[in-house]
Parts: sequence; structure tokens; C-alpha cells
Amino acid sequence: MKSRINDQLKDKYEAIDQDLDAYLEGLLHSKPINYWDYIQTDALLNLQIQRTVFPDEMVFIIYHQINELLFKMVLVEIDQVAKSKELTVELFTSKLMRISRYFDMLTSSFSIMKDGMDVDQYNKFRATLTPASGFQSAQYRKIEFASTELINLIDKRFRDTIDRNSSYENAFEHLYWQAAGKNYKTGKKSYTLTVFEERYKGEFIRFAQFYSTNNLYSKFKELPKEAREDKELINAMRHFDYTVNIKWVMAHYNTANHYLNIGGKTAEATGGSEWVKYMHPKYQKRIFFPDLWTKQEIEEWGVNI
Ligand code: HEM
Repeated sequence: MKSRINDQLKDKYEAIDQDLDAYLEGLLHSKPINYWDYIQTDALLNLQIQRTVFPDEMVFIIYHQINELLFKMVLVEIDQVAKSKELTVELFTSKLMRISRYFDMLTSSFSIMKDGMDVDQYNKFRATLTPASGFQSAQYRKIEFASTELINLIDKRFRDTIDRNSSYENAFEHLYWQAAGKNYKTGKKSYTLTVFEERYKGEFIRFAQFYSTNNLYSKFKELPKEAREDKELINAMRHFDYTVNIKWVMAHYNTANHYLNIGGKTAEATGGSEWVKYMHPKYQKRIFFPDLWTKQEIEEWGVNI
């Protein structure tokens, strides 16, 4: 065993013209690792910087950070499916179910957020956040690009005008979420949307290019017919679609209602969207895998919930 590891180490460093002994000497002096060094707890627990004195602002920041970490886990899973050389039904199904479990966590934990903060405190500290909004979560957008074909993320009103020959620039201008930050009559974009694009548009277009053929839906369509008819896989795909695009969206919407709809009067959101209409799944009809739903299910998407 010992000599086999020695041989493997030798091979590894020889392959990159490095001297194994120098590395072994480094190992001799290196200090043993601790939990806190490995998990980077000190750095992690120093990333919560409040803008106000309200304790519930801490809850708000931490919850968003937890969400971003879970989004990162989702992207790691999708990346593995996208880059898998031999995609089996089993691997596909198990990855989808795992991603769904992350979204189950995100959905059920929203009740902690909904009933977790004092409404008065929230409405005071959120004033200091304007014009920032969760709308500017880049990872959330990446999950969408990585899950389905771009056409399914285009605003319903413009789908007929976009096809495979449209440029990414043009498609980008008609993504469904432009509606939250764009006045379609004047074409003017909100500050929230403008700065988001300045920061991420280039990255999004590169990301969307890779995923245009490697997204979960395209990967599914590439499977042999028999695999595409696998009940367990179809259920996993539908479960993922439903969890992300109805359950999470509704948990989020209900939370917004809790804080921003007081006594039937809706407050303006920090990102400035017409959120009551924009956020409800029945208006957006975001569906990652449309072929896996019946016509009636699509018509009733988000209606009776
Ligand atoms: C008190 C908690 C929350 C409230 C009241 C809230 C409210 C809102 C509102 C009103 C919008 C519409 C855009 C705007 O005008 O700002 C929005 C968008 C968004 N928020 Fe939240 N949010 C909350 C928590 C979160 C959390 C924890 C996340 C996770 C990162 C998140 C992610 C998003 C995303 C991704 C969008 C864009 C959704 C889309 O385009 O359909 N939000 N939020």
C-alpha cells in the first residue's frame, strides 16, 4: 500500500516536472488542519454587516446569505449534469431530486423569514436598502439559464418574436424578468435593473451560451427515447419544475405580502417593480420543462394555489 502511494505520488509530480521530495518536505512542516480553518468559520461569520441598529436586519442578511449558499450548491449539481460524459437515467434522476431537496429547504424555510422578523423593524431597515433587491441575485438567474432553454425564459408576450437566430443581446432584452425593471411603453430601465446589467450582463451571456445546449432540459431531450419515458425521471423533472417555479415563488410572494401589504395597502418594493402582479406564478408562467406538462396543467399554472 505504502509503495503504491509513493509510486502514484512520483507519477503525479513527474508528470508536471516537479520534485516529489520538495512537496514531501512541505508536508513535513505543514500544520494539521482544524475545523475552523477548513470551513473558514471566522471569515464566514464576519460577512454580516448591518446598515442599521435593528437586530432583525441581521436575520435578514443571514437568511439571504444562506439562500445564496444553497443557490451555489444547486449550480454545482447542475454543472455536474451539464459536463457528464455518460449521463445515465439514474444519475440524472438523483441529481434532480437533490436539487429539488435544496429548493424544498428554500421553500419551507421561507416561513422562518415570513414570521421571523418584526414587520415594523423590517419596514424601517428596508428603507436603507433601496434600490437593492433580491431581484439582483445573479445566482438565481444562473439557475434559470442552466435549467432550461432560453426561449422558456422569454417574456410570454415576446416569445413569437424570438427564435434560434435571434442574438443573445436581443433575447436578453426580452427575458421575463426585464418586466420588473423596464417600462415597456418608454423602454426606460430602472436603476436597479441598469446596475444589475452593468455588473452581470457579460457574464450572463457567456453563461447562457454554454448552457444553451447544456441546460437540464436539453440534456433530457438528448437521452435515448427509453430514458425519456422513464417514470421516475419524468417525476423528478416535474417535481423540480413545480418546486422552483410554483412552490418557491409562492413562498416568496406570500412573504412579500406579509411585509409589504399592510391593511390591504401595498407598499412599493425596494427594487421598484409592480410586484403584486409581477411575482405571482400565474402571470409569469415560468415553466422549465413545458413538454412534461399537459396543456391544461400549463393553462392552470399557479392558478389554484
Ligand atoms: C422579507 C423578505 C423578502 C421580501 C419582502 C422580498 C420581496 C421581493 C419583491 C417585492 C421583489 C420584486 C422585485 C422588486 O421590486 O424588488 C423581489 C424579487 C426577488 N427576490 Fe425577494 N423578497 C424577500 C426575500 C428574498 C430572499 C430571501 C431571496 C433569496 C435570495 C429573494 C430573492 C428574490 C429574487 C430572485 C427576486 C426576483 C424574482 C423574479 O424575478 O421573479 N428574496 N423580492
